[in-house]
Amino acid sequence: MERFAFPQWTNKLPTLLATAAALGLGYVAVVGVYGTSPGTINVGYSPDQPVPFSHQLHAGTLKMDCRYCHNTVDKGAHAAVPPTSTCVNCHSATNPDGTITTATVHPKSEKLLAVRESQATGEPIEWTRVHDLPDFVYFNHSAHVNRGVSCVTCHGRVDKMEQVHQDKELSMKWCLDCHRNPDPHLRPLEHITDLEWQPEEDPEVLGSRLREQFGINPSTSCSTCHR
Ligand code: HEC
Ligand code: HEC
Ligand code: HEC
Ligand code: HEC
Ligand code: HEC
Repeated sequence: MERFAFPQWTNKLPTLLATAAALGLGYVAVVGVYGTSPGTINVGYSPDQPVPFSHQLHAGTLKMDCRYCHNTVDKGAHAAVPPTSTCVNCHSATNPDGTITTATVHPKSEKLLAVRESQATGEPIEWTRVHDLPDFVYFNHSAHVNRGVSCVTCHGRVDKMEQVHQDKELSMKWCLDCHRNPDPHLRPLEHITDLEWQPEEDPEVLGSRLREQFGINPSTSCSTCHR
């Protein structure tokens, strides 16, 4: 009778298990302490875009309000990247009759090639997302910008960025730190998209006054962000 033998590969099993356990524990520790996954804490992430669109030029130098392009940011959950028609307001390739408008800005620019293509074909420009929370997290822009949290608090000085990058760790700890103590981050609604604005008084004092006045009370219960 042949003796029973474990197959050869099982010799490696203890090592495999030990490695898996070590990795697993490391993962649990990271998740437990910060609630983070590498994809979301990508500070500095700045993908190249199909059009080298400059916020520094449009929002900084030309002083266009964020809501001119991100026009759902104070109305719904998503901020919405603008459709080609918004760019075409100023960068139209052609008039309806086929001639080039004299009012058009840089109608022949190489950099605007993808805009003209999109205008001609009706296919949207394929912008690459910079910020992206995992699907199991619920986030809502209007809930923040209508309660006094400015774009600058979460996105940094976008009006100084030639190319947008992620400015903050979008970790659970980051969300919760503010939900527990929002006071220093609150400002009057008329300054929400003015990234340069600084309060004339102590931000804590101003914030706690606004918080009381408007009954602002961010929730820290799991079901607020995981629903
Ligand atoms: C203010 C919003 C917010 C609240 C409240 C919140 N979370 Fe989270 N949670 C997040 C975000 C954002 C992430 C994603 C972080 C990442 O991907 O780095 C996350 C991730 C997680 C993860 C997954 C971690 C991972 O790396 O996959 C777990 C588990 C989790 N949360 C559990 C909870 C529990 C339990 C509670 C209640 C005690 C809670 N969360 C409350 C925002 C929140
Ligand atoms: C002229 C239109 C326009 C204006 C004005 C504008 N943006 Fe944008 N924004 C865009 C376009 C187009 C993109 C997508 C391409 C990119 O990421 O650069 C974008 C992307 C972004 C992103 C990254 C989105 C992602 O993928 O995660 C943020 C954040 C942002 N804008 C914030 C702002 C803020 C804050 C302001 C006001 C200071 C502003 N924008 C003003 C057109 C605009
Ligand atoms: C309100 C008018 C306006 C809108 C809307 C607008 N732009 Fe512009 N854009 C300008 C002006 C003005 C300049 C040129 C500034 C200069 O050359 O000094 C410019 C320059 C540019 C340039 C640089 C072109 C070059 O050759 O230097 C790019 C690229 C560009 N815009 C992309 C976009 C995109 C993409 C959108 C839509 C998301 C957009 N713009 C929306 C006014 C606008
Ligand atoms: C409280 C923090 C916070 C504030 C305030 C905030 N954002 Fe965001 N923004 C985020 C997060 C988080 C994401 C990623 C959302 C996701 O992946 O679902 C995001 C994503 C975006 C995007 C990509 C499209 C989208 O909706 O996912 C744009 C554009 C944007 N923000 C613009 C703005 C502008 C403009 C303002 C100010 C008017 C602003 N944001 C204020 C946190 C914030
Ligand atoms: C800088 C401060 C700040 C940060 C950062 C922040 N929040 Fe908030 N959040 C607030 C405030 C203020 C409110 C409004 C509370 C109120 O209306 O009483 C709010 C409300 C919310 C709500 C409630 C929306 C509703 O429908 O009632 C959700 C969901 C939420 N935040 C998710 C998040 C998530 C997810 C993150 C991280 C990705 C985050 N927040 C980061 C300050 C912040």
